[in-house]
Amino acid sequence: MKIAVFSAQPYDRRFLDEARIAELEKTPSAPIEAVYFTDRLTIDTVALAQGCAVVCVFVNDILDAPVLQALHALGVRAVLLRCAGFNNVDVQAGERLGMFMARVPTYAPEAVAEHALALVMTLNRRTHRAYARVREGNFALDGLLGMTLHGKTVGIVGAGQIGTAAAHIFKGLGCTVLVSDPAPQLQLGAIATRVTLEQLLAQSDIVSLHCPLMEATRHLINATSLALMKPGAMLVNTSRGALIDTMAVIAALKCKQLGALAIDVYEQESDLFFHDHSSDIIDDDVFQRLMTFPNVLVTGHQGFFTVEAMREIAAVTFANLACHTRGEPSANALAVNARPT
Ligand code: NAI
Repeated sequence: MKIAVFSAQPYDRRFLDEARIAELEKTPSAPIEAVYFTDRLTIDTVALAQGCAVVCVFVNDILDAPVLQALHALGVRAVLLRCAGFNNVDVQAGERLGMFMARVPTYAPEAVAEHALALVMTLNRRTHRAYARVREGNFALDGLLGMTLHGKTVGIVGAGQIGTAAAHIFKGLGCTVLVSDPAPQLQLGAIATRVTLEQLLAQSDIVSLHCPLMEATRHLINATSLALMKPGAMLVNTSRGALIDTMAVIAALKCKQLGALAIDVYEQESDLFFHDHSSDIIDDDVFQRLMTFPNVLVTGHQGFFTVEAMREIAAVTFANLACHTRGEPSANALAVNARPT
């Protein structure tokens, strides 16, 4: 069995090879060969999967109907996602072609929640600026003033696996936690209070997004919702870039309605993230405008990036493959009616 692994970085190779070798030891009669490509899967790169029965993909690979058809014509019968979200997959087209498609629904949700906390802490106490200053012998505090998080109100939009972990973290800091979710997984109890999105926006000092990207949530944060936020509040997005209308956020930052923005995801991230562009001219004026604000912090989709999460992703990816090869149903299979995350 040969697998074409797209968007493969050295760290993907390390953890996938570890899991592949472990799988091989369990079933030596069914060897698995992996070929790694740094390229994203698109209609232009689909031919790289020639000779492979399976493709393994990540968040910014494109699996629309033409790509899935082209893969099928090459003999590919299974798509293994190394991520939870599948907004980049035309599930209906895959189902029509009878392809096996499976994802990793959960991998260390705490890792993403902890990254949201890291963003809040950094942006609030300006540790990124302090680090650079102190290294230059500048010990002035001007410009580093933050707020005490204890006693502040944090609004969690989407109380699923990650939102729940985030709620516990912020509760632990002594914050009041509000959640807005049509079907929260969080047992609210003493941890958080369930409110409407409008109430959450109006009352929160920090708004953290943890809901999936779907048609209903695309640009959930737009000019109208930004106007409902507490003036000077902080917005954090570790979920999916398109939850935010970036132009509206830039306008809100310019007029100081939005006090600070921390993002690990960006609507147009597929052209930038996961690659070294330090010697390139970045041809994205919106992103470049964001980078000019001193109160904006961007990380390149690293919320998931812990050893524990990478091991889990690799192990579940190969467990999904084992289901496919044995012809067994998988709880992680994508289905048209499943909820995207
Ligand atoms: P989950 O499925 O456990 O929870 C999502 C929650 O959002 C559910 O409780 C659902 O009811 C709720 N929801 C749905 N529509 C909503 C709406 N309109 N308003 C408020 N809540 C709504 O998903 P999980 O595992 O917690 O992941 C959340 C997000 O984090 C996903 O979108 C995923 O893509 C993203 N993610 C980001 C990573 C990163 O590295 N930055 C890594 C992994 C996931």
